[in-house]
Amino acid sequence: MSKTHLIAGLLIAGVIVAPVFAQTTTVSLTPQQVVAARQASFDMSSATFGAILKAAKEGADAKTESQPAAALASWAKVLPSLFPAGTGVGQTPMESKAKLDIWTDRAGFEKAAANYVTATATLSSLAEANNTAGFTAQLDEVKKACGGCHKPYRER
Ligand code: HEC
Repeated sequence: MSKTHLIAGLLIAGVIVAPVFAQTTTVSLTPQQVVAARQASFDMSSATFGAILKAAKEGADAKTESQPAAALASWAKVLPSLFPAGTGVGQTPMESKAKLDIWTDRAGFEKAAANYVTATATLSSLAEANNTAGFTAQLDEVKKACGGCHKPYRER
């Protein structure tokens, strides 16, 4: 490879790679946007969970709920990242029910979120395995995981 080719190659690589790095280092959301994103996600997860409960009640096979169960499990994993400092009740112009205890007792909040991750990951596996009895029983565990976080960390 000639020196000119090498330089041209490096320049092209720079043009392609630079914007990728620029993006990962400059993306930021306002506190209001974070609150709006998590509230929309909670509303969608609530609708998803409601649809799963309805299907289970109507006797659907667990396998048919694989996609929504996996969606809940994915959401559970990113949930804590949508609670950065400064996004609690009274800290942004948005209405929010996020108690300030989320930040004063972060370990407890992370633990509640981790319980939700475990409950939904198990739900997702049971759906994949089409274990309908296990899946139906696990729905109660997921419900408990919602309440286990709402009780200490969400305003009524
Ligand atoms: C680890 C904690 C945690 C878990 C687990 C959790 N939530 Fe929440 N949820 C919150 C907090 C905190 C808020 C308040 C967010 C805000 O107002 O900024 C909230 C808000 C909500 C809202 C209201 C959203 C809005 O538009 O204001 C709904 C609906 C909801 N959760 C449903 C659920 C359901 C259903 C589950 C379980 C399948 C669940 N949540 C699991 C912490 C949790």
